[in-house]
Amino acid sequence: MLGRLVGELACRYGPIFRTNLVGEDLVVSLDAELNAHVLKQEERGFQIWYPPSFMRVFGADNITAKLGVLHHHMRTLVLRLFGHQTVRSVLLHDVQRSARDELRSWLGRPDVEVRTATSRMIFGVTAKKLISHDDAASGETLWRCFHDWTSGLLSFPVSIPGTTFYRCMQGRKKVMTMLKQQLVERRRNAAERETTEDFFDLVIDELNKPDPMMDESTALDLLFTMLFASHETTSMVLTVILKYLTDNPKALQELTEEHERILESRANPGSDLTWEEYKSMKFTSHVIHESLRLANIALAMFRKANQDVHINGYTIPKGSKIMMCALASHLNTEVYEDPSVFNPWRWKDIPEPVGTSKDFMAFGGGLRLCAGAEFSKMQMAMFLHYLVTNYSWKPVSGGTMLFYPGLQFPEGFHIQL
Ligand code: HEM
Repeated sequence: MLGRLVGELACRYGPIFRTNLVGEDLVVSLDAELNAHVLKQEERGFQIWYPPSFMRVFGADNITAKLGVLHHHMRTLVLRLFGHQTVRSVLLHDVQRSARDELRSWLGRPDVEVRTATSRMIFGVTAKKLISHDDAASGETLWRCFHDWTSGLLSFPVSIPGTTFYRCMQGRKKVMTMLKQQLVERRRNAAERETTEDFFDLVIDELNKPDPMMDESTALDLLFTMLFASHETTSMVLTVILKYLTDNPKALQELTEEHERILESRANPGSDLTWEEYKSMKFTSHVIHESLRLANIALAMFRKANQDVHINGYTIPKGSKIMMCALASHLNTEVYEDPSVFNPWRWKDIPEPVGTSKDFMAFGGGLRLCAGAEFSKMQMAMFLHYLVTNYSWKPVSGGTMLFYPGLQFPEGFHIQL
C-alpha cells in the first residue's frame, strides 16, 4: 500500500514537487539522489530546519535547533553515553540483563502488548543511563508522562483542553518539570555522588564551567529528546520485527538457527554474549535492516536550502524548506526487488549501509546521522537472541500496521509467550 502511494505521488507530481503542508510551503523530495545530496551538504548548501509544530513538542532548544560547534559539542556528549565504545563495553551487558528479565516477566501472561512492553523495557535502560532514574521503582511515572506525550505527537497541533495535542503538551510539561527538579537536586548534591557517570553528570560538569557552551534549557531539551528517541524508536522497530517474524516462519527458523549455532559453539553457555558473537549475527542484521527499511519510522527529515540548488533539471531556490521522505529510497524498485515484501535474504546481496547511503536512510545521514543507531541495532539483536533461544510465541490479537501518516499499530500487537 505504501509502495503504491509513493508511486502514485511520484507519477502525479514527479519525484520533487512543491506543496503546502504543516502550514508551510515545502519542497517534497521523493528523490533518493536529492535526499542523499542534501544530507551530504549539511551546514553548507543546506541546514537543518524543522516545522514550528515539531519545535513546540520537542522544545525550542532541542538538538535540531543547534548548528556548528554547539551541535558538534552536544553530539559528542550523546556519543559518550551511546557511542560505539560505551555500547561495546557497558550497554551490551545492561541490555542483555534487561532483555532476559523482561522476557521472563512475559511468561505466564495471557496477553503481552509488544510495543508497550518493549518501550517500557528500553526506557528502563536509558532512563538509568541518562538520569540514573529507576522508573520501575518509581511506579513508571516518567514513562507514563512520555506515553501521554507520544500519543499526541502526530495529532493536529491545537492545544485546547480535551484535545490529544493538549494531553501531549501536558505530558511534556510534566516531564520537563521532573527533569528540572532532578537537575537542581543533583547539582546541589553533586559532591556526594559516587555511582557511574550519567548524562546529568556530563551536563552538570558543563554548566559549572566558567564559560559553558550549553545553557540549562538546551541541556534539558537534549535530555528530553534523548529519553524519547532512545525508547520510542527502537520499541516500534522491535514490534515490527516480531510481527514480520510471526508472519514469516522461514525467516524465524533461520534466525533461530543462527542464534542456536552461537550457543552451541560457546564454552560457557550461561555467560553474556560477547561483542564478537554479536557481530557474527549476519542474518539477524539482515532482519533488522529489512524491518527498518519497511518500517520507516522517521517519516520525514526537514532541511532548508542555503543557496540555489540545481539537480536533475529542477531548481530549488535559496530559502526553500525541504521535506525528504526516506521511503523513496527504501521502496526503489531498481535497488529492492518487490520492495514492499519483507525479504531479509535480499541483504545477502546488498552491502549493509554504513554512514550515508542513498538507498538506505532509516538513520538519516551526514553530520546528523542518528547518534543512537549502533545502540539501537545492538539492543534489537540482543532481545531477539534471548527471545528465540528460550521461548516461542503466538499472536493473540492486533498486529495490523498502518502508515497514517507515520507507522502505527492501531490495536497494538498482542502475543502470548
Ligand atoms: C530504530 C531506531 C532509530 C531510528 C530509526 C532513528 C532515526 C533517526 C534519524 C532518521 C535521525 C536523523 C534526523 C535528521 O537528520 O533530521 C536521527 C537522529 C538522532 N537520533 Fe535516532 N533513531 C533511532 C534510535 C535512536 C536512539 C536509540 C537514540 C539515542 C540513544 C537516538 C538519538 C538520536 C539523536 C541524538 C539524533 C540527532 C543527531 C544529530 O542531530 O546530530 N536515536 N535518528
